[in-house]
Amino acid sequence: MSLSLAATQPEPPADADDGVWLECIECSETFAPFDDVRYTCDECDGLLEVRYADLPTFDDFAGEGVWRYADALPFETGVTTQEGATPLYEVPRLEADVGVEALRIKHEGMNPTGSFKDRGMTVGVRVAKELGVDRLACASTGNTSAALAAYGSRGGMETLVLLPAGKVAAGKIAQASLHGARILEVDGNFDACLDIVQELAARGEAYLLNSLNPFRLEGQKTIGLEILEGFRDDYGAFPDRIVLPVGNAGNTSALYKAFRELVQAGELDADDVPKLTGVQAAGAAPMVEAIENGADEVRRWDDVETRATAIRIGNPVNAPKALPGIRETGGTAIAVSDEAITDAQRDLAEEGIGVEPASAASVAGLRKLRAEGIVDDAERVACLTTGHLLKDPDAAAAAGSDPEPVPADTEGVIEHLQG
Ligand code: F0G
Repeated sequence: MSLSLAATQPEPPADADDGVWLECIECSETFAPFDDVRYTCDECDGLLEVRYADLPTFDDFAGEGVWRYADALPFETGVTTQEGATPLYEVPRLEADVGVEALRIKHEGMNPTGSFKDRGMTVGVRVAKELGVDRLACASTGNTSAALAAYGSRGGMETLVLLPAGKVAAGKIAQASLHGARILEVDGNFDACLDIVQELAARGEAYLLNSLNPFRLEGQKTIGLEILEGFRDDYGAFPDRIVLPVGNAGNTSALYKAFRELVQAGELDADDVPKLTGVQAAGAAPMVEAIENGADEVRRWDDVETRATAIRIGNPVNAPKALPGIRETGGTAIAVSDEAITDAQRDLAEEGIGVEPASAASVAGLRKLRAEGIVDDAERVACLTTGHLLKDPDAAAAAGSDPEPVPADTEGVIEHLQG
């Protein structure tokens, strides 16, 4: 089976639990959702997706935040700190400068731990409770570890995080630390951390909450649902395109799934699905390579480097879910330089929006696509900014202005200002 906007509603298998089950995206094998711990298909090792017997319409959504969309999720509520309901900012100067019909910034840095990861964890940790596990684990470039540590603690579970030594921004380590995670610093990059944690999970040492876990992506679908509702309320129409940073391509996969389900429910015309447009840092761009080459598989990059440490990833594990999403929606993927990322961070800061470097990749990518004429001036665009400025204070300080030493008297300060 291949993923498609034209898919029809499947019949629930006998072992579905309250109309929820898991299905392999490669061989269509189905599994009961909460009987056993499982991350990939037993038959072919393909990625799994959550399926529902009933798909909601916009009218079914009520309340605020991730759990507004409970009817599109496996549970009514989760382990929550009121995640979601993030702002969709207008940015009139940037919109005019980039030269598109409408530009909005969906700032996921405004979630409780400062990144979109909270949306996945509120669902993922709820599932962990259902499964009765007591230790949670993830590999992380930082934000996943911060969110896992916070939601795991709130859920009363032990958390273990594997981080690439020396490559995680200060704010993120501080969060994982204070929320009580055991932090293992691995002498290797993120992809090596993920290889190890997958092995640990396979040996039953911990429950894996990276985006390979299909339930996490259910929570992240709500980004797409919020963007559609927010854009419609604000602008009167859905956006033509959503531009987002790509690491493991979890969000790309989650948004594609949100839109497939809306199309299946008859709530969205397949032609109106926003073009999913991924942006990677030039030093870590295996998805871009696959899109440019028309490849069905992504080649793992062993050496990756970028200032945007959150997306310093060479092996995007969700590529089999994300590549069809980018292609079928008419989107694309583009790589941007670290300099362009920092410039975009400054552009957003000028509009009062503080983001970490990886987040600014979306705006840098949009600028490049406009310059290349791939995005035209009539488009309505939402850029996703995935993490808060304070996640990476060193990058912010390096991109911003330097403090100026002054004497401790008013005359001295005035003299300095006039100097
Ligand atoms: N932006 C930020 C700020 C991130 O932290 C990440 C991923 C991404 C974008 C990429 O999202 O994987 O859905 O394509 N961070 C993970 C982590 C890898 O460990 O925090 P994706």
